[in-house]
Amino acid sequence: MLRGSFELIGDKSISHRAIMFSSISKGHNKISNFLMGQDCLSTISCFKKMGVDIDIKGNEVFVKGNGLYGLKPPKDLLDVGNSGTTIRLLSGILAGNNFDATLIGDESIGKRPMKRVTDPLRMMGCKIEGKDDANYTPIKIYGGNLKGIDYNMPVASAQVKSALILASLYADSKSIIREKVKSRNHTEIMLKSFGADIDVNDLDITINPVKELFNQDIYVPGDISSAAFIIVGALITKGSEVLIKNVGLNKTRTGIIDVVKNMNGNIEIINQRLVGGELVGDLLVKYSKDLNATTIDKTIIPRLIDEIPVIAVLATQAEGTTIIKDAKELKVKESNRIKSVVDNLKLMGADIEELEDGMVIKGKTKLNGASITTFKDHRIAMAFSIANLICDTDIVLDDKECIDISFPGYFDSLKKLSI
Ligand code: S3P
Repeated sequence: MLRGSFELIGDKSISHRAIMFSSISKGHNKISNFLMGQDCLSTISCFKKMGVDIDIKGNEVFVKGNGLYGLKPPKDLLDVGNSGTTIRLLSGILAGNNFDATLIGDESIGKRPMKRVTDPLRMMGCKIEGKDDANYTPIKIYGGNLKGIDYNMPVASAQVKSALILASLYADSKSIIREKVKSRNHTEIMLKSFGADIDVNDLDITINPVKELFNQDIYVPGDISSAAFIIVGALITKGSEVLIKNVGLNKTRTGIIDVVKNMNGNIEIINQRLVGGELVGDLLVKYSKDLNATTIDKTIIPRLIDEIPVIAVLATQAEGTTIIKDAKELKVKESNRIKSVVDNLKLMGADIEELEDGMVIKGKTKLNGASITTFKDHRIAMAFSIANLICDTDIVLDDKECIDISFPGYFDSLKKLSI
């Protein structure tokens, strides 16, 4: 069982943005509670290659911003490692800067679609080259001279939205980015605090170009996507009671809390407060014997997209049929997460069926140990380590190191809570 309190590590999405926006601001920035995960370190490394002075001290990062037009042409390739957020958002920034740069990444990045970003950036006037008409890495961006855009987003993606907002900072006129479903809005919140001219009207975001962004001190709230593993661990193991402190509770990210409540899970938000424009609170989660199934569809998917692997584990312990649909995006994450979840849970004895855009899970089933293929996907490794908490025989993960992408110290944290 899991018992005790736990101080949550910093949010990955917000940490990336803090480095990027600080780098293109003018002056000294201090970022506290920064997530020292591999993905965020990839972002740091890319901006260092463009001449930004970035110092790490403990879990604080000091960034001396070069100004909106002050990045230097990189002498080397910009390697984003495993990070989709880095490659998408950075593409938007590079499109606005008057030099060319080439983006590469690891094997998983090489399979993740980029046309969703490169197409609208080309509409803004940017020249881009890359594999399969700039759908895959390596991608070369020849930045500068952007036009404003009025763009209806075909996919619900905060990465695409953010790339276009960033490019719009450099355009010659106003841009409007229109979403169909609201995706995470950390870019809008944080860029405003840096002095960007951004107006959000429900699903439409209007950006007017500015001459400069101004330095900030940023506190990064805890990552609810990392908390998700501890939440599910506590809900499914008998006798558990965990207090997760300092959880980012931005409405665009809290789908998992709504789902847990719908499933009759025992979760309580306490001590809510606003920190740097972001809502933060503590979560008290207790073992929940009588979980029931639920349906998860497009109305909530963007608010919990990264949590679906561990929600699937939770659903195996809920009475009834859980349906997860409208989640095609899962196929183009760090791995094909529909397949990674369904195949591995099947091996463990779950009653689960793959759908074209999701999965159907019938509970409650006992789970058994098995050899788990993670596809080096951090969230798959963690989701199955949580499933392991209720198995009689242990699972074997083919890769644990990938967890450092988003949750360094994960097994230590889990061990401290385990009794
Ligand atoms: C992220 C947005 C989401 C999410 C990813 C982080 C971000 O991706 O899955 O882990 O920081 O903007 P999409 O925007 O592609 O849905």
